[in-house]
Amino acid sequence: MALLFVSNSDDPAAWRRELGALLPDLEVRVWPEAGAAEDVRYALVWKPEPGLLAGFPNLELIQSLGMGVDHIFLDGALPAGVPVARLVDPNMVGQMSEYVLLAALRGHRLSDRYDAQQREHRWRQHPIPDTERTGVGVMGLGALGLDAAAKFRALGFRTRGWSRSAKRIEGVETFHGPDGLKPFLAGSDILVCLLPFTPETENVINAETLAALPQGAHVVNSARGGLVVEEDLLAALESGHLGGATLDVFRREPLPKGHPFWDHPKVHVTPHVAALTNPRTAAAEVAENIRRVRAGEPPLNLVDRQRGY
Ligand code: NDP
Ligand code: OXD
Repeated sequence: MALLFVSNSDDPAAWRRELGALLPDLEVRVWPEAGAAEDVRYALVWKPEPGLLAGFPNLELIQSLGMGVDHIFLDGALPAGVPVARLVDPNMVGQMSEYVLLAALRGHRLSDRYDAQQREHRWRQHPIPDTERTGVGVMGLGALGLDAAAKFRALGFRTRGWSRSAKRIEGVETFHGPDGLKPFLAGSDILVCLLPFTPETENVINAETLAALPQGAHVVNSARGGLVVEEDLLAALESGHLGGATLDVFRREPLPKGHPFWDHPKVHVTPHVAALTNPRTAAAEVAENIRRVRAGEPPLNLVDRQRGY
């Protein structure tokens, strides 16, 4: 009973060490050294090549190395009937909230402006924007969005959230579904996108939805690049409708050299690092899922293949 580790960006030695401590009988094989295909029962994957997983006839669990699973569903030949689970690691949830709070506060407290003034040795005070009157809109109220919304609320922002199904969250104004989107956007001076990438959410940030944001809004996207129509975002920045954008994820990663985001004065770019999987904190969930499928139980954080998240 072997686990196949497939990733070009995660450290197989660290995963072997952490999983070995929790499941000493588990054999960890690292792709492309897969050995006999019929021994492989569990696949721990980040961006597996389409078609790869279909080659393992006894697979019982496909476990994402990340919180998102869109990288798995790109595979049109994904074996049917095998449960797909994602990570929900509190350590990553905390990292993501740090990222979106930093992005929001940097704009809110005029950090770029004061950095520029310091470079010019210029002493000039500006009014502090009113936090209670600043709307932060969190798109997606799942594991990441709920934590971020709670932390924005704790800082005193007028916090609102948008999700697929209706929710009641204390201190957060909630909206849902396509009909709730524009009213939600209309009060979001800072828009934080934490949606999964699915056929329904693709291109959700486009010319029409950007136009529904208040003048001068700041967009933070640390979910997936495919949620944003990049040309529309650039046009909204150029027109002055948007005040800025903080982007961690892109349609093409790495962000191609020469892409207009790199040098745009209103755009902050980071290389998909808002939250990174840490084997020290995430291995326990993977080990528990292996224990569960061995016992014939459903894994934790099972993904709904139909919904795509
Ligand atoms: P969850 O699955 O826990 O939550 C998803 C949320 O999005 C839910 O509230 C869901 O609504 C909502 N949603 C889904 N589809 C729609 C829709 N069509 N319309 C409105 N709302 C919708 O996801 P997580 O919070 O764990 O993660 C979100 C994404 O963040 C991941 O899928 C991943 O792509 C990305 N990510 C990025 C990282 C980075 O480093 N940049 C790190 C980790 C994750 P409902 O509650 O009604 O189901
Ligand atoms: C994830 C990511 O989905 O890092 O976990 O993007």
